[in-house]
Amino acid sequence: MGVVASAPAKIILLGEHFVVYGEPAIVLAIDKRAYAEAEIRNDKKLCLHSLNLNLAGYFENGNFKIEKGNAKEARSKFEPIKLAVEKVLEKHGENVGLDIKINSTVPVAAGLGSSAAVVAAVTSALGALLNVKMSKEDVFRITYESEKIVHGTPSGIDPAISTFGGTLLFQMDTGFKPLDVKTDIPLVIGDTGVARSTRVQVEKVQAIKEKYPQIVEPIMLAAREIVLKAIDALKGNDLETLGELMNINQALLYGVGVSDESLERLINAARKAGALGAKLTGAGGGGCMIALTKNENLEQVSEAIQRIGGRPFIAKKTDEGARIERT
Ligand code: MEV
Repeated sequence: MGVVASAPAKIILLGEHFVVYGEPAIVLAIDKRAYAEAEIRNDKKLCLHSLNLNLAGYFENGNFKIEKGNAKEARSKFEPIKLAVEKVLEKHGENVGLDIKINSTVPVAAGLGSSAAVVAAVTSALGALLNVKMSKEDVFRITYESEKIVHGTPSGIDPAISTFGGTLLFQMDTGFKPLDVKTDIPLVIGDTGVARSTRVQVEKVQAIKEKYPQIVEPIMLAAREIVLKAIDALKGNDLETLGELMNINQALLYGVGVSDESLERLINAARKAGALGAKLTGAGGGGCMIALTKNENLEQVSEAIQRIGGRPFIAKKTDEGARIERT
């Protein structure tokens, strides 16, 4: 039996897209986790097996061999993990063969940070397996480096939240600041099942901002104000206000062109079923929406999303970032 570690997925509660232009965003770790189990092998192979994606293969002397599933898909999923493994092995000072099993409960390619959660879990498991002294900061940095392969130049939101957990206020120029949030944040997350590209969505906002600077700049200022008000609402456990702010934030995201019909349908269904507020989360154009919901209405909102064709699940904020589950 090997060492097992896990790390959480995330949602952006408020501020996506506008964050790219320097405005603040609030991000939460949610209680959907990716798990990684690591064991030492007698040879020098790096064997990777994703149980949830049904993919397996190994790296040996720089070559990749597929054992289960589609080779191209496996390579794209395993390459960031390999990079993280190499960084931990560098710290360890010796190259060893490894078996790594991944089991993630996080929906993939839905804007929930599944790749960062997997890499943070693998990095933590390996650190413990090889007795490499690793701070949370080290896990974050290694996960961030490997995320660059997946996303080009990511803001760092996903690796930070998967590593540290909790609620973070993020701004490009100041980085991450933990927010001390005592209240539960009961959410229904609805996956539209519509695939989207973060890059394309970011480019849409860029285009509309260039075309209508005098219109989009006040939208950015409004987005900032929403986040600042939301910090107070979170401190005061005021979920009603937070819900209203989410609805206004959704209107701004719609305005800059990143909502779509699949999201609007789920958002409207959630609101009609009693959600306090609902909006897209992440890049938009498909992917997931979130609905802030009183505990007693969670099932009702979840059912409404399901009825309209979305894939809902209930999630809560978690304060637990990357952690060792078993040594
Ligand atoms: C995507 O999850 C969030 C965006 O704000 C892009 C980013 O912050 O890198 C759309």
